[in-house]
Amino acid sequence: MNMKRGHFYIKTMGCQMNVYESDYVYQILKDSGYEYTDDPGRADLIVINTCTVRKKAEQKAYSHIGRMLSLKRIKPHMRIAVLGCMAQQQGQKLLERFPDIDLVMGPREIEKFKLFLTDIIRGAKIVATDLRGGPVGIIDCAPRVPSFKSRVTGFVSIMQGCNNFCSYCIVPYVRGREVSRSLQDIVAEVKMLINWGIKDVTLLGQNVNSYRDKDYDFARLLQKVHEVEGLLRLRFTTSHPKDVSQRLIQCFRDLPKLCSHIHLPFQAGSDRILRLMNRGYTKEHYMELIQKLKDARPGIAITSDVMVGFPRETEEDFIDTLDLIRRVEFDNLFSFKYSDREGTPAHKMQGKIPEEEKQRRLELLQSIQKEITLKKNREMEGRIVDVLVEGKSKRGNTLTGRTDTNKIVNFIGNSDLIGKMVKIKVLNGYQNSLLGELF
Ligand code: 5AD
Ligand code: SF4
Repeated sequence: MNMKRGHFYIKTMGCQMNVYESDYVYQILKDSGYEYTDDPGRADLIVINTCTVRKKAEQKAYSHIGRMLSLKRIKPHMRIAVLGCMAQQQGQKLLERFPDIDLVMGPREIEKFKLFLTDIIRGAKIVATDLRGGPVGIIDCAPRVPSFKSRVTGFVSIMQGCNNFCSYCIVPYVRGREVSRSLQDIVAEVKMLINWGIKDVTLLGQNVNSYRDKDYDFARLLQKVHEVEGLLRLRFTTSHPKDVSQRLIQCFRDLPKLCSHIHLPFQAGSDRILRLMNRGYTKEHYMELIQKLKDARPGIAITSDVMVGFPRETEEDFIDTLDLIRRVEFDNLFSFKYSDREGTPAHKMQGKIPEEEKQRRLELLQSIQKEITLKKNREMEGRIVDVLVEGKSKRGNTLTGRTDTNKIVNFIGNSDLIGKMVKIKVLNGYQNSLLGELF
């Protein structure tokens, strides 16, 4: 069955959910007898997993597709599969524009990837964009085969889709309605990852707080996963402020393996803009949540997403956003210029903000956050932290790992420490990482 079929290459763009889904496809391809290559020129099958959350992500996807199609001109037997949110959104149009693509497949069709693969090898052209598919898990496609490259951290998807319909966001249209995986499957998959040597697991969903399997809510799921033996660290992303429950906050008191970090996108600091965004909370509610989380877990790191230049955002609205940033003092912040996405309610709104003004707001916001991040990282100097060692750093001569507050720490050490928890004394705090030494 596992006869050699040639090489495959996967390019993953976008969010962690895409990373997870690429892993799913990776497992299937390995199991079907393909060998992975990081050189697309050597590949017989190229998979491009795309994102469409902002215009820029879409442009990146197009330029990558273009490059891969030029390889196919030299190697006509090559097959090209475009997956992910942009594939879902463009569907048939993508095939019309680039007839050399073989498969266009949205995220909710991923379960059928193996079937589609057989068909495109035979020469079929497929567009698969049905949104009714259930959530998939890696355990469903390769329960026995640990085909991952050695890794310390892993993702487990707990749900698929989104029901929130924030007015700027394309995700509900390309990933469909929320469906949760069963608690039993999730726990089994976490156990499988632990058997494969993974120590740090992040539960993934577009809105993990609305997880539900019969009577089990997200807090119950966290408790259940927390019980898995051999698991050292448990994380989750992403949370929606309107759905953070008292029971979830309590988990930060009760569950020691649950890391001291929450990613809680606030998007805007102005109540007027939050209403236009259909976010379902106010600035004060967000601030109260942060306080409750800090009370439940002193020292908890808070990261967030924010957007500038939403339609009709005034200077006062923007100042409300800066005020929230200064008050919360995020450990890290992902900031974006509002990007018009066709099909969303915001696309039809009046009062679009000119590009230069969005750019000015973004730069000002980022310069303020940069100082906060650096200040926070410098405050770590002299402290002893527990670091789970993840591998060699990109520069090669040091090891790299993370604190439970999700800060990257580089230090000199032997590679047999990879996968272990070590105590590190922080020597220097930089903009994007900490430098330390074994303690
Ligand atoms: N424009 C800009 N940023 C967006 N995001 C989502 N949709 C848009 C958009 N249309 C940002 C949000 C979200 C993150 C994943 O991407 O901040 O939290
Ligand atoms: Fe991009 Fe959103 Fe799709 Fe993730 S879910 S790939 S962020 S559009």
